Amino acid sequence: MTKHLTKRKLDKTRNDRLYFDSYSDVTIHEEMIADHVRTNTYRTAITKNSQYIRGKVVLDVGAGTGVLSMFCVQAGAKKVYAVEACSIAEQAEKIVKHNNMEDRIEVVRGTLETVDLPEMVDVIVSEWMGYALLHESMLNSVLYARDKWLKAGGLILPSKAELYIAPISDPVVQDRLYFWYTVKDRYGVDMTCMSDFARRCIMNSDIIVNSVTTEDVLSHPAHFAELDLYSIKVEELRSVKGQFRCESFGSAAVNAFCIYFTVTFSCADTQQALVLSTSPFKPETHWKQAVLYLDTPVDVVQDTVFAGTVSMFPSEKSTRHICVHVDYTIGEQERQSKTFSIPDWSSEAQP
Ligand SMILES: C[S@@+](CC[C@H](N)C(=O)[O-])C[C@H]1O[C@@H](n2cnc3c(N)ncnc32)[C@H](O)[C@@H]1O
Repeated sequence: MTKHLTKRKLDKTRNDRLYFDSYSDVTIHEEMIADHVRTNTYRTAITKNSQYIRGKVVLDVGAGTGVLSMFCVQAGAKKVYAVEACSIAEQAEKIVKHNNMEDRIEVVRGTLETVDLPEMVDVIVSEWMGYALLHESMLNSVLYARDKWLKAGGLILPSKAELYIAPISDPVVQDRLYFWYTVKDRYGVDMTCMSDFARRCIMNSDIIVNSVTTEDVLSHPAHFAELDLYSIKVEELRSVKGQFRCESFGSAAVNAFCIYFTVTFSCADTQQALVLSTSPFKPETHWKQAVLYLDTPVDVVQDTVFAGTVSMFPSEKSTRHICVHVDYTIGEQERQSKTFSIPDWSSEAQP
């Protein structure tokens, strides 16, 4: 028992180290800040909430380069605690000084879960969203911050997250599967017997992060989950699930589902709540969409019904890795189910 616990603890420490290492390089921060949909929506949301930020104390959970902290100072914050666990905190410190904001922003190096702040805060701001929303499990840290450091009635930016699913027909996969039927014409060697193997390799259980073009989306997306950041509990993140139902626009060979998310920033005028969307129907963000391939393509016609349940949960191997289980029917076909996960990130930076 003790041994098992120690191993789990070591694995968690190793995973956290790999995770924070992925944020120590410039590339990921460049990608995030260059994502103008992301960065401008946060900036606008902070500016629009200036009446709640002016003269107040803010906690920036996972401050990175400190960009959101600086937006908060521009909106009039009295003090911002910019908590950042990895070495990018050193750059944040430099940028803060470079912008003469050191009297208002305190960069606190450490994990949110371990740092000690001198006071409770009025506002929490954080950009915590990973691929398919929950990859990286950083929302846990925001909820921890909420429960420990946010004053009663305090503001959380953003305050709501929503998840959507839609069936798609990925033409690249169709072409790749068809490729083995074209080899004979090109080289005189019949390789059609490769098609099954190719299908299993390509339509595997990896979550592929890719840009889905609007023409490839086969139905109106279905909303399947909503997270209210004021009320959701950390335990509820162990399984985020919901049902979906959508109908095909027309005839096509469906070969995947795509999942995307939105986050909403409430504003003083509720009519003007601001939405950061990663929908394929909106301008592209660095999150793109999460594509989940079926085992085999299925031919559908107009009004074919896609229905089922999606559940998202942290992987047993690493709690920062998200898994997605989809249980679905397509038209009259038998019920199918498949579990997907994001390939190992140890060699790659994350958003
Ligand atoms: C998605 S980035 C956002 C960075 C910055 N706020 C921005 O908007 O450009 C998340 C950052 O949070 C940091 N982070 C994640 N979990 C953390 C935790 N528990 N404590 C402190 N920092 C954390 C990561 O190291 C990373 O730099």
